[in-house]
Amino acid sequence: MIEVRKHFPSLAEGRPGAGTVFFDGAAGTQICARSIDRMNEAMLDDNANFGGFFETSQRAGELVTKTRAALADFFHANDAREIVFGQNMTTLTLAMARTFGRRLQTGDELLLTRMDHDANVAPWLSLAEDRGLIVKWLDFSTETYDYELTQLDELLTPRTKLVAVNFASNVIGTINDVRSITAGAKAVGALVFVDAVQYAPHGVIDVQNIGCDFLVCSAYKFYGPHYGILWGKLDVLESLEPYKVRTAPAHAPDKFETGTKSREAIAGVLGAIEHLQSVGMAAIVEYEEILTRQLIAGLRTIKGVTIHGKGNGGRVPTLALTIQGKSPADVAMALARERINVWHGHNYGWEPVKRLGLLEAGGVVRVSLAQYNTAEEVDYFLERMAGLTASLR
Ligand SMILES: Cc1ncc(COP(=O)(O)O)c(C=O)c1O
Repeated sequence: MIEVRKHFPSLAEGRPGAGTVFFDGAAGTQICARSIDRMNEAMLDDNANFGGFFETSQRAGELVTKTRAALADFFHANDAREIVFGQNMTTLTLAMARTFGRRLQTGDELLLTRMDHDANVAPWLSLAEDRGLIVKWLDFSTETYDYELTQLDELLTPRTKLVAVNFASNVIGTINDVRSITAGAKAVGALVFVDAVQYAPHGVIDVQNIGCDFLVCSAYKFYGPHYGILWGKLDVLESLEPYKVRTAPAHAPDKFETGTKSREAIAGVLGAIEHLQSVGMAAIVEYEEILTRQLIAGLRTIKGVTIHGKGNGGRVPTLALTIQGKSPADVAMALARERINVWHGHNYGWEPVKRLGLLEAGGVVRVSLAQYNTAEEVDYFLERMAGLTASLR
């Protein structure tokens, strides 16, 4: 799997990033060569707005069609018209919440979770405030780090209109049973909005199998550019009335895509999907599991380190850590001096970090692995972490 590194130009000798340990993938990965090449090509050869009779415009349109088709495959979607592009996941979710709210009544209910990134919480809270909706909360266990699914029966009612959940947590790394949650939501007639931003780089997404109505992700988390993607069931998308200019198309997906789309970003998304396909998700999962096992086993031997999350299995390679007697910011700063990139703080996981009781204490150190990381990098990180905590021995 180490060969994969050659597909990431930013890691090459002579570049500023060479020699840096990028354990910050959960906040944004390095970009793969295929994605960069696709973006370059699009900027050079497909540089026109959409809908013209001339060649550059036709090429730009074909690029969008091709990328939607690739994404439909990636999600196991039925129809390429189910793929909506937007600036990023947050922007897409804010717009969808506003649109969805047009059909809701005061007293309708939303089910949110204590594990989600704020981008799948705050848009729905704002909507609830605007529309007088009731918000209910699905908790997670701080022992198993799974959702408390036994609470679902009580939380879901005939007035529940939408359930917003994450496929994988950006803080504790849990992969959630979104299929069961969706089944419960469907039994009361609620729609389900899945945040797959953190899951997309690490596993196969099958929206048919999940049964959800919406699923969102962001290409910069899976080796592509900063661009958001929303998948929605075609009949649901068609039934919605987004805020849009009068001259925009009346049907999905275009009616949701405000203004001019970024053809270069769309090209980069295509490149990222092609890259993932060429490496193969099964190989990615297997490799990342090996690295994660090494990382967890090593961390468990270091005194003063707590992993807030599951052990091996049922997780993506994203770990939330605290280190006794040291603030997450200080640890991240010390690691940065060793050229190890990690994040610290709440990581926009306001709810989960609060639930863990760590908000006031500065959150967590977030260490996240990607397909280009190596066993040697994990060893180097563990060595430095042991050094940082040496005074605790
Ligand atoms: C789980 C999760 N959801 C949503 C987002 C927001 O994504 P975007 O930056 O595309 O708005 C992030 C970004 O870190 C995330 O990790």
